[in-house]
Amino acid sequence: MFFKDKLKTKMNEIEGRVQREKSEHDDNSILEKSFKVKNIFCHCLYSPTMKRLENDEMKIFKGCKGLKVLDVGCGFGERSVLLAKYGAQVTGIDISSKYIKSSKKLSQEEGVPEKCIFEEMDVHDMNYLDETFDLVVGRGIIHHLDLKVSLLEIKRVLKKGGSALFMEPLDANPLLKILRFLTPFARTPDEKPLTKKDLRWVAKNFYVKSTFYGILSAPVAIMTSIFLRPYPSNVFLKLSDFVERYINKIRILHPYNQYVLLNVKK
Ligand SMILES: C[S@@+](CC[C@H](N)C(=O)[O-])C[C@H]1O[C@@H](n2cnc3c(N)ncnc32)[C@H](O)[C@@H]1O
Repeated sequence: MFFKDKLKTKMNEIEGRVQREKSEHDDNSILEKSFKVKNIFCHCLYSPTMKRLENDEMKIFKGCKGLKVLDVGCGFGERSVLLAKYGAQVTGIDISSKYIKSSKKLSQEEGVPEKCIFEEMDVHDMNYLDETFDLVVGRGIIHHLDLKVSLLEIKRVLKKGGSALFMEPLDANPLLKILRFLTPFARTPDEKPLTKKDLRWVAKNFYVKSTFYGILSAPVAIMTSIFLRPYPSNVFLKLSDFVERYINKIRILHPYNQYVLLNVKK
């Protein structure tokens, strides 16, 4: 009885979270608001460190020809379309009907509609059979979900030997904490950047290779966005990107980065 009650509470909790997320995206245009804030601190988006992160992702994206790829929380579908252009058969899912409509339109405009399927669906409870996909990708999605339930569901739909690649924000950096505190209007009430405890749970339960970005360059980028606009490849950012690769050799500092790229294997 106790177990049944706990399960019911958990299911209600997830249902509430999913409904709130849907309404924030469909009715409150939260993603557009978040883009506006990010554009104020645009060096955080276009710094050499972010280019390095993107290159690391692209190495995997470019090898996806012929693979069945699932893009979870696909948003406006840009990355699904990119994967389709690299030759993958892509399924993009999102809880927002508005984004699913936009994603379908984008795939038509970009000439890859036959390589993309977009569906409104909750990542916690997907309609796909076990072991359907070779690769699952997601950017800025896991921290909107119940970490454990969603990762186990993603593992279920991944083929044996398949992998999942997520780029997610981290919680611990004090300057980024302040920035988040000052911009609650650009975030959903349930999103929660990954904590040290979350990273430990992932490492304990999955075979995962994690790469970290932005421990030094993110704070520097916030400053240079204000004082050195519009030069996102300024010398301070180049230098901080160089130095932080050494800083990130110290494991205990990893949670203080801005982003983690989680490469999970099944
Ligand atoms: C921060 S946005 C990222 C969107 C996109 N990946 C990008 O990089 O632009 C988070 C996305 O997750 C979607 N989302 C949130 N909860 C979800 C859920 N339970 N199932 C599916 N999608 C969800 C939101 O609708 C939103 O599109």
